[in-house]
Formats: sequence, C-alpha cells, structure tokens
Amino acid sequence: MSSAASGPNASGSEPGEQAVLGPDGLGNSLPGTVYLVGAGPGDPDLLTLKAHRLLSRCDALVYDSLVPRALLDLVPEGCECHFVGKRRGHHSVPQPTTNAVLVELAQRHRCIVRLKGGDPFLFGRGGEEAAHLVKQGVAVQVVPGVTAGIAAPAYAGIPVTHRRAGSSVTFVTGHEEIDKGRPGVDWRGLARSSDGLVIYMGLHNLTQICAELMAGGLAGSTPAAVVQQGTVTGQRQLITTLADLAERVEAEGFGSPAIVVIGAVVAERIPQCAPEPALVEMPIPF
Ligand SMILES: C[S@@+](CC[C@H](N)C(=O)[O-])C[C@H]1O[C@@H](n2cnc3c(N)ncnc32)[C@H](O)[C@@H]1O
Repeated sequence: MSSAASGPNASGSEPGEQAVLGPDGLGNSLPGTVYLVGAGPGDPDLLTLKAHRLLSRCDALVYDSLVPRALLDLVPEGCECHFVGKRRGHHSVPQPTTNAVLVELAQRHRCIVRLKGGDPFLFGRGGEEAAHLVKQGVAVQVVPGVTAGIAAPAYAGIPVTHRRAGSSVTFVTGHEEIDKGRPGVDWRGLARSSDGLVIYMGLHNLTQICAELMAGGLAGSTPAAVVQQGTVTGQRQLITTLADLAERVEAEGFGSPAIVVIGAVVAERIPQCAPEPALVEMPIPF
C-alpha cells in the first residue's frame, strides 16, 4: 500500500497543512497548526500512525493526564511540553488557560500537538478547543483516536454491539450532575431507547444512574460491567448485574478511570479474545 495519500507531503507538512496555512482565504494568520490528537485509551499500540507521526515531529506538546507517559518519549528533543491535566478531585488547569496556551504556542511554533486521551471529540472538550482556535485565527486539525468506551470493554472481551444482543449503543457521560455546563442526561429515556450503554465518568453518580435506569424500566437482572484502567497496567473488571453494580463497585473499591457497560452485550463477553493490557502507567500523576 502506498502511503503517499495519507502521509506527510514532500515539504514534511501534513496533508491539508499547506492549504490552511497558505493564502487560501481561510484567514489563519498565525504560523502554527494545532493538531487535536487522540492518544487512544492507554496501550501505546493503539496509537494511530498519524498520531505517532505528529508526535515524532512536533515542536510543542500540550497533554492531559489520561495519556500514558510512554507516549511523551516519542516527541523530539527540544519539544516544548505543557501539562494541562484535568481530573476530578485534583488541581486542574482551567480550560481558558489551556486555550490561551494553545494560541500562544501557535504564534511561535509550526506543529503543535494537543494530545488527549481516547478520541478528542468524545467527552474530551476537543470541540470547544477547536472552536476557540478557529475563532482566534489558528489553523487546527483533528486526529481521531481509539476511544476508551470501545477499547476498555474490548480488553475485557466485551463487544459493545452484537447481532443478537445489541443493535444500538449509546456513549454517555455520567458526570453531568456536577458539570452544569452540560445538558442533563435522560437516564429513564435511555433505559428504553438504547440496547447498550457505555458510560464514561460514571462511577461517582453510579447509585443514582442505576436507580434511574431501573425506574425507566431496565430490569435489575440486566448484565453490567465496569472496566477500570482499561488497556494498561492495573486493568481490572467486574461483571455483574445492574441491580448489584453500584454496591459491588463500592465494596470492591473500583475507581477512575473506568468505563461502565450496561446491556445484554455484557453477557456475550468472550474473555479468550481479550488482549493483555500494556505494561504502561496511566494516568500521568499530578
Ligand atoms: C474526560 S473523558 C475522556 C474520554 C476520551 N476522550 C475517550 O475518547 O476515551 C475521561 C473518561 O474516559 C474514561 N476512560 C479514559 N481512559 C480510560 C481507560 N483507559 N480505562 C477506562 N476508562 C477510561 C473514564 O470514564 C474517564 O473518566
């Protein structure tokens, strides 16, 4: 297979970089391009080729805590690195500060990688950052990544859809009670409308979420799973039912980062197909 169609062009630029940087009427006035890059769920083998290429050549890196430290070793010597991690219960870099850092870096560098766990556009504020950069006249491109909501269940052998057990799946945040900037989730409606649920950031509100799902008509016997530290060192999983989920998560000390899967697909789990988690540390400690 030729890589000419997808790799960097003769000048070393990414496809599209010339177009957004050139006098093409898009109005980008700064020298740099910010790449919103998905780091995948943690196992470095799940990094895309494009993400690997950009990390290997970037002039500046801005990264979150939910990425493995191993990926930071890919950047060239002299790359300007900024940590802007956000995690519940930890000191967090405010979003306006991150936005300002990206704009400032675009004034001084050509290739800036904004590295985010999983996929940048799935519960990662990638859309907000892209909109801000465009508004400020900064060229920006998104590089999709493998999301934790598919990879963490897969590393436990759980398919998130299945011809017999799940024709629809909903990716949903369990965090919206705290983050008032998000629209509320209609859990009772989801109980009726989606075969499977993949819940990000769901542990803190799990008791309430499970109660709402059952109030919405989902049977307490519905299969349920939690995968903590999916794809990396420390991965562990719990397979149970919706009725017992919150109590067991608490009793067995499950913590973040974790993905919750609820639905008949959990019963289709095939542990034999689950890869070994990578021997890498994640998240990056604050
Ligand atoms: C702010 S969201 C970012 C999601 C990310 N953009 C993605 O596509 O995977 C962070 C949440 O993703 C989930 N998560 C991320 N990495 C994970 C992993 N390796 N194992 C389990 N859950 C993970 C957890 O629910 C965590 O609280």
